[in-house]
Amino acid sequence: MIDYSKLKPARDVAIIGIGSTIFGEHWDKSLRDLAGEAGSKALHDANIDPKEIQFLVGGNMSGGMFVGQEHGAGLFADHLGITPVGAIRTEAACASGSLAVRVGYMAIASGMYDVVAVGGAEKMTDVYGDRATSVLAGAMDQENEAFHGLTFPGVYAFLANRHMHDYGTTREQLALIPVKNHRNGALNPIAHFQRKITLDNVLNSPLVADPLRLLDCSPISDGAASLIMVSADKAKDYTNSPIYIKASAQASDSLAVHDRENITTLNATLVASKEAYARAGLGPEDIDFAEVHDCFSINELIAYEDLGFAKKGEGGKLIESGETEISGKIPVNTSGGLKAKGHPVGATGVAQLVELVEQLRGEAGKRQVENARVGLAHNVGGSGATVVIHILSNER
Ligand code: COA
Repeated sequence: MIDYSKLKPARDVAIIGIGSTIFGEHWDKSLRDLAGEAGSKALHDANIDPKEIQFLVGGNMSGGMFVGQEHGAGLFADHLGITPVGAIRTEAACASGSLAVRVGYMAIASGMYDVVAVGGAEKMTDVYGDRATSVLAGAMDQENEAFHGLTFPGVYAFLANRHMHDYGTTREQLALIPVKNHRNGALNPIAHFQRKITLDNVLNSPLVADPLRLLDCSPISDGAASLIMVSADKAKDYTNSPIYIKASAQASDSLAVHDRENITTLNATLVASKEAYARAGLGPEDIDFAEVHDCFSINELIAYEDLGFAKKGEGGKLIESGETEISGKIPVNTSGGLKAKGHPVGATGVAQLVELVEQLRGEAGKRQVENARVGLAHNVGGSGATVVIHILSNER
């Protein structure tokens, strides 16, 4: 057993700038345009001279397959106008963005750099839907899953069916999740879908992979998000409202779901959240709000349980209680989540932190959570082979 509370980073890290494009279908913008736009907005928000950036980390899942462009690190640094600079691209499927945050965090926490730009970007809509599905399936176990025709909606349908079988979770309970997230997305000016949907809309939308329907699924989106991070001691030189990273944690699990003992839980979430809570010296009861990985409605429900917001098997009751609404005890996905805000895979993990920072600064407008002090971001790669968790606070 690792005692994470004894593994202290050399120094604290703060976020001083955030930027994001609108998420959606961007026919008039390329991958580099999106990354450059988000990065420029973050630099402007941090009020920092680009020449001060000492290191860049960019998350991108599959530029090569979506737009034929590999070598994202060079591209992002070049298009942000900050070359020559050290730059790394991170890839962990849909968790590529939060992995970029984690590498940026480690670069500062270790003392190697003081000022780091972090970004995530993906351009998914330049290929047809079936091609996007097979590119995404590259994050599954190719030999044992994708080769046999399994897709991500199919994998998460397994999890949903098993959860419904074992715990009596209902189809209606699952549907309440996208209804809530679209309600929140309707308040978010950067969301892919800024419209409300009803329970009936979800239950009558086209079947994708039984029991999951179209409105249980996150969409195929384009978008980019960016953060500027500095060592906490320097944060006040740039802003009066730095947001501190209290914990960064990550865990991995088997690539294929059939290798797991229990598919109603993501073991990587259990392990990463344990690490994150120990490092932050906090528990689930201390979290004021969270952005969790709702690529399909079942995944948000399972996250409630794995993160400790609900007892095992009681995620359905939690969504029914209304406590995950913006005005509830533990608001979840105030941004609209992946479902309504959109899911440009390499950008998602960074965008989750953009929402956390807006909330913690008190700048989330109609989505604002009252007295937001501590927020958690949970980002999943594949069907749970990677999970990255960050805990942020407006208090050091
Ligand atoms: N939620 C709500 N509406 C959606 C949607 C979604 N997830 N996906 C598409 N739509 C809408 C489109 O806006 C479009 O509406 P319009 O006719 O008013 O313009 C309509 O549905 C048809 O869109 P289309 O692009 O043809 O849908 P599709 O059938 O090709 O794709 C899914 C639908 C669900 C298959 C696709 O969104 C998908 O694969 N999602 C999951 C992505 C994924 O696996 N991500 C990784 C997670 S681990």
